Parts: sequence; C-alpha cells; structure tokens
Amino acid sequence: MFKSRSLIAMLALMTLAGCKPLDDGMVMIFGRSMRDSRSFDPYENPRGAPEGSFAFASGNYPARPGEVNLGQPEGVMVPRITQADLGTPGVGSTVVQGLVNPMSRDDARSQARGEELYLRTCVVCHGPDGVGANAYIAAKHPVLPAYNLSGATVAAYSDQYLYTMIRVGRGLMPEYGSRITEFDRWSVVNYVRQLQEQAGNALAGGAE
Ligand code: HEC
Repeated sequence: MFKSRSLIAMLALMTLAGCKPLDDGMVMIFGRSMRDSRSFDPYENPRGAPEGSFAFASGNYPARPGEVNLGQPEGVMVPRITQADLGTPGVGSTVVQGLVNPMSRDDARSQARGEELYLRTCVVCHGPDGVGANAYIAAKHPVLPAYNLSGATVAAYSDQYLYTMIRVGRGLMPEYGSRITEFDRWSVVNYVRQLQEQAGNALAGGAE
C-alpha cells in the first residue's frame, strides 16, 4: 500500500516537473507523447480551397489537381528539395531534373489558374509581363534587381528549375512552396511560359 502510494507520488512529481524520462516512458508504452504531437502551420487550412480562391496550405501535395489534400508529407509523392537543389542555374540538381510537370502547357485551366496566382503573388516584383522593370516594386525600390521572367535567359530554363524557384526561393526571392500548392506551382510555370511566348522568346523544351 505504502509502496504504491509513493510510486504515485513519484509519478505525479515527474508529471508536474515535466520530466523527459516520463515522456520517454510514454513513447515506449504508447508510441507517442504530448511532446511530439502534430503541429500545424498557422496558415495551414485542412479544408480544400473554395473555387477560385488562394490555398494557404503548407506542404500541400494532393494526388490530383483540384483535389483536397489528405496530408501526404513531402518526400512521398514529390521529392523533398531545398535551395541546395537549385544547383546549376536554369537546370538544377539531378533530383530537380527528374521532376515531371503534370500540367500540360496547353491546358487552358492550368493557364488560367497560373495567371490568377501569378497576378496575386509574382506580379508585384516581376511585373504583369514578366519584366521586372515594369513591376510596381521597381518604381518604389529602383535599387532592387529586377529579374525578367519573360526574357531569353529564363525562357531557356527548364520547367523543373522554374518550379523549384517557386517552391524554395533564391536570394532575395521568397519561397512560395508553403503558399502555392503542388499542382498550382506547375500552373504558374505554365503561365510564365505563356509570358515568354508573348515576349517572342524561344521556350525550353521546344514547345510551339
Ligand atoms: C518579393 C519579390 C518577389 C516575388 C513576389 C517573386 N519574386 Fe521571383 N525573384 C525575385 C528576386 C529578387 C529574384 C532574384 C533572385 C536572386 O537574386 O537570386 C527573383 C528571381 C526569380 C527567378 C529566377 C530568374 C533568373 O534570372 O534566374 C524566377 C524563375 C522567379 N523569380 C519566379 C517567380 C515566380 C514564378 C514568382 C511568383 C510565384 C515570383 N518569382 C515571385 C523577387 C520576387
């Protein structure tokens, strides 16, 4: 009797003190503890985005375009990549080179979605026609380098590299991987291709 009471008191003390050994014990018994409970990104929305709206879902990798993400983590359907994978400009690491654009450049829905997202996220720095100097930010901060997306240089980049730029960012360019979902990133790539075509530049991959 005395023994079990002291055991309870000890456990209570350990709980109050938030002891690591107790957590470790819980992990051994139940396979998990409160310490490593699932955390959510403040912007993460587990529900699918309403029609025509902008999805703020971090690590969103649904199986098909327009489908609700069921929480597949990065590294399952799409490989985990970081800024280190940008590698050679315009080409990227071997992992980047192995990515496949699932959205056709000729798909009108992909183009429309890409345009919508481009006008919301990229236009402020890269301009409505992809020319950085025409961007709103260029007038306010003329010293910021204005990178052209519709110029010959970026037209020669691979789809995979453009996708990676959107997903992980580079230098002063922020990452949009946590704000633009998987299929939408490829749609933005397709829209950037359209801007390059309009500017009269030959596209990588020899598209029409
Ligand atoms: C906050 C401003 C800003 C926004 C918003 C932005 N970018 Fe950028 N972007 C930059 C800057 C600055 C660079 C140059 C990065 C560097 O110095 O390496 C850049 C570079 C790039 C490049 C590489 C260009 C090159 O010549 O190598 C691509 C591709 C690109 N951005 C695409 C996009 C797309 C697509 C979006 C929208 C999803 C976007 N960017 C949103 C600022 C921005």
